[in-house]
Amino acid sequence: MLFPPSLPPTPSGRSLGRVETPPELVRFMVGLAEAPKGGRVLEPACADGPFLRAFREAHGTGYRFVGVEIDPNALDLPPWAEGVVADFLLWEPGEAFDLILGNPPYGIVGEASKYPIHVLKEAKGLYKKALSTWKGKYNLYGAFIEKSVRLLRAGGTLVFVVPATWLVLDDFSLLRAFLAREGRTEVYYLGEVFPGRKVSAVVLRFRKGGRGLALWDTRKEGEGFIPFLWSEDPEWNGEIIRFETGWTREMEASGTPLGSLFHIRFAARSPEFKKHPAVRREPGAGLVPVLTGRNLKPGWIDYESNYSGLWMPKERAKELRDFYATPHLVVAHTKGTKVVGAWDEKAYPWREEFHLLPKEGVKLDLLFLVEWLNSEKMQVYVRTLYRDFVPHLTLRMLERLPVRRENGFRTNPSSS
Ligand SMILES: C[S@@+](CC[C@H](N)C(=O)[O-])C[C@H]1O[C@@H](n2cnc3c(N)ncnc32)[C@H](O)[C@@H]1O
Repeated sequence: MLFPPSLPPTPSGRSLGRVETPPELVRFMVGLAEAPKGGRVLEPACADGPFLRAFREAHGTGYRFVGVEIDPNALDLPPWAEGVVADFLLWEPGEAFDLILGNPPYGIVGEASKYPIHVLKEAKGLYKKALSTWKGKYNLYGAFIEKSVRLLRAGGTLVFVVPATWLVLDDFSLLRAFLAREGRTEVYYLGEVFPGRKVSAVVLRFRKGGRGLALWDTRKEGEGFIPFLWSEDPEWNGEIIRFETGWTREMEASGTPLGSLFHIRFAARSPEFKKHPAVRREPGAGLVPVLTGRNLKPGWIDYESNYSGLWMPKERAKELRDFYATPHLVVAHTKGTKVVGAWDEKAYPWREEFHLLPKEGVKLDLLFLVEWLNSEKMQVYVRTLYRDFVPHLTLRMLERLPVRRENGFRTNPSSS
């Protein structure tokens, strides 16, 4: 057993990210999997080994089957498979595999109060040491991908179902670059395939060695998924993965990215407000509500309602962030993959959302710009590219929103 000393010996259930994989999804993935006869097939985080079972049913018995599971109570493999009780991320089998497939655990390893995967918290330092792609909060599934790629033999295949967040989030930029360096990546978009779970999923199929990216969409038909190729990029270097179309490319080619017109800042966080000496928990004379995303509407701001439970004198907001002192553009982070923006003409304190400050020489036609950001066309643009990969608009998405001159900006003649 490879438990780090302070890990409880039988962590189980939800605390380890246990989720059943729908059988039609297992079948789809097994259809994408291949291994040479006599090859070694591995299912990490296997529990009762649904992928090993389905692979053997589809491809026959002539393989060596191995499953790794951290929870001895969950490990339940048939006699033809070798079961190993170990933390997969720290496991060193001393051999390479031809095929690795399965459904790794998903979750951020952290405090019990915030994240379900807290039992592995003690091991986090060891994971970070063993893996090169760990970044930010990261996620167990990213770590499982890297570890699996390391365990593949040259030419070997990895087939995992994982959340779609790695396609776009910065926390996975090292992982994307690692995949681009190590082999050829194929992504099959599925959307919400786990019953009762709000997780947009993709199947990652990776071949060690080779190069490039292929993005596939899928259609659910009867009991199966039909894949169709969306785009290919033979030169992929780990950039964000998006569902580009001729129209989105045209939009971006004919506009200026919002990030080159504005400095984009985040609001001060809740704890900063709570620590500030001028912040109160009750309304009072000379105090205004600290605004949240719920105060931000398409094209206007509700300055009256208080959703934060915090009040403060407006003039002192600049002690938290200097940009609170000036009227500026606010764009939502918290409203799904949607663009919602408004001009904060009263310059209030905000506990959430993006705050956009024009760069030197940029002159704004506010009405046009706010209207463009909230327009239906803009919603179609973000939805087309990023679907439901993540439940919010990210900084990287916001920076790339295309703005044409007629949509609301001018630059000084000297800087244009
Ligand atoms: C998402 S489930 C997948 C189970 C199975 N593949 C399926 O599709 O139903 C995650 C499984 O991973 C196991 N697990 C979690 N962390 C692990 C780790 N670090 N090493 C090995 N197994 C782990 C859990 O005990 C759980 O059985």
